[in-house]
Amino acid sequence: MKNPIRLLVISSLLTASNIYASSNEDKVNIPFRYAKGQVLFDKNCSACHSSTLTGSDKGPPLLHSFYKPSHHGDSAFYRAGLKGVKAHHWNFGDMPPVAGMTETKMKSIVSYVRFYQQQKKLY
Ligand code: HEC
Repeated sequence: MKNPIRLLVISSLLTASNIYASSNEDKVNIPFRYAKGQVLFDKNCSACHSSTLTGSDKGPPLLHSFYKPSHHGDSAFYRAGLKGVKAHHWNFGDMPPVAGMTETKMKSIVSYVRFYQQQKKLY
């Protein structure tokens, strides 16, 4: 142990870089073309599905394999946003229709959700 201070500096740098790497890995970087969908999702959907799509005590995670395109295609998303959903997979109760939702807004939301699901390796 010739230089304990130097060792301490190196080890704390290593720890800091590990923390940085892991939090960076979890975060999904949203390209500009999905920014509108993100804003609309955060405003209209995240209260129940959470802004990281991981769900809450009011709604299921949209990162669950139920919500892959092969199980719930885009039309299921449009239907959910525009008309609501009767509870059938979970025990959160019904999803009410989202006030002020339009097909155009849903189009941006669906592209954003699909991009996010792919970044999280759902499919
Ligand atoms: C008030 C809470 C709430 C809000 C707001 C909400 N959801 Fe939901 N959502 C739910 C619940 C609860 C379910 C689960 C129903 C069930 O048991 O299958 C659900 C289910 C879904 C499903 C699955 C549909 C199906 O056919 O099974 C999709 C897709 C979905 N939500 C998308 C959205 C999108 C997109 C938005 C925003 C435009 C949104 N949700 C806003 C509560 C909510």
